[in-house]
Amino acid sequence: MFNTTDNKFHAKLRRAVSNAYAMSTLVNFEPLVDSTSVEFLKQLKQRYANRTDDSGICDLGQWLQFYAFDVIGELTYSKRLGFVDRGTDVDHIIGNLERLLNYVSVVGQLPFLDRLLIKNPIRFWLKLGNSTSPVVTFAKKQMASRDFVDEKNAEDSSNKGPARKDFLSRFNEARMKDPVFISENRVLALTVANMFAGSDTTAITLRAIFYYLLKDPPKMEKLSEELVGQSKAGKFTRDDALVRWEEVRDLPYLGAVINEALRCHPAAGLTLERVAPPGGIEVAGHHLPGGTIVGCSAWVIHRDESIFGPEASEFRPERWIDATAEQQAKMKNALFSFGAGSRTCIGKNISLLEMYKLVPAMIRTFEIELLNPESPWTLHNAWTTVVDELARGRRDMSNA
Ligand code: HEM
Repeated sequence: MFNTTDNKFHAKLRRAVSNAYAMSTLVNFEPLVDSTSVEFLKQLKQRYANRTDDSGICDLGQWLQFYAFDVIGELTYSKRLGFVDRGTDVDHIIGNLERLLNYVSVVGQLPFLDRLLIKNPIRFWLKLGNSTSPVVTFAKKQMASRDFVDEKNAEDSSNKGPARKDFLSRFNEARMKDPVFISENRVLALTVANMFAGSDTTAITLRAIFYYLLKDPPKMEKLSEELVGQSKAGKFTRDDALVRWEEVRDLPYLGAVINEALRCHPAAGLTLERVAPPGGIEVAGHHLPGGTIVGCSAWVIHRDESIFGPEASEFRPERWIDATAEQQAKMKNALFSFGAGSRTCIGKNISLLEMYKLVPAMIRTFEIELLNPESPWTLHNAWTTVVDELARGRRDMSNA
């Protein structure tokens, strides 16, 4: 879905699976998010909590990435890859993804390079390099262990649909309806696309939420107070630190914090490209001939003070609360972190579910502070905008 340039094919594919990502499915997805969250909190507690020495120092950015990868694994196959359980980059998947993003950010701008490098026919001919990602291997294993025919029979006999309501079973439902178009390989591609599109992006946004809150303790305090208030009012019904989607989805300050992090730090750091139709188009009074590649960068749009108000480069969740209804509508309309139009992020609801649930659970469980509150993070734009690992490594060494 992500990579096709054929709009008709894209629309057909998106229509076939859009139900799987609808707002109404979130209730079924919630238990799958919760099981990873429980393990995540348990691991952080065991490894870092209540320590007075350096062993309480946690690379939260990395753990949030473990979390996001494992949640999307649960959501897609009801199975985690095991990053959170093991506290490590399983099969070097995250490292490989980082390398891939570094590569695609360059060849995405200079596509001819791809034909010289990875897609070079000589490379295929000489059988150089194994380009199968461990994520694909994992996906194939999960699909093989899930019997499509059994799921079909279960649905036929109970009329309630398959018991497991993860993405794989939802894509299999689409396959039952149209087995020629939604072939087995297409189901594989859809599940793998989820893993890549929904892990790094969610991790980056979660990192931004915690980074900005930890940089500005009064804002963290304000969010914490909102959660304490809800808890005292008996609004949280679980007996652990986790919260239900229904209990947090309308919390004003939590919503403002998430929107503001999405605004200040959109995960996609390059323009989201589109191609002008054959007859060309008019953009801001300029005629662009057919075939011209156009695009917008969320990083530019989000700093427009005529839309987001003064000091648009600063993290100020209050802007989402103080604004008039008209201004708020304008801001929501211009929030471009998930893109826009027919290609807009299909997983937006899922990622909001994850963020609205994890942030309160973390704040209700831990007191967190930055090791070096004065030092800003250094960013690296490789299609997604990530913390510069090299710069972080250098800083860690200078702290040691
Ligand atoms: C904070 C988290 C996320 C961000 C910031 C994000 C951002 C984006 C962006 C910018 C696009 C391209 C939109 C465009 O070109 O207009 C996109 C597309 C997509 N995203 Fe997300 N995403 C997130 C989470 C997810 C999740 C959790 C999933 C899967 C469950 C997902 C699946 C997809 C897919 C399949 C597409 C391609 C849609 C299409 O081409 O029709 N994303 N996302």
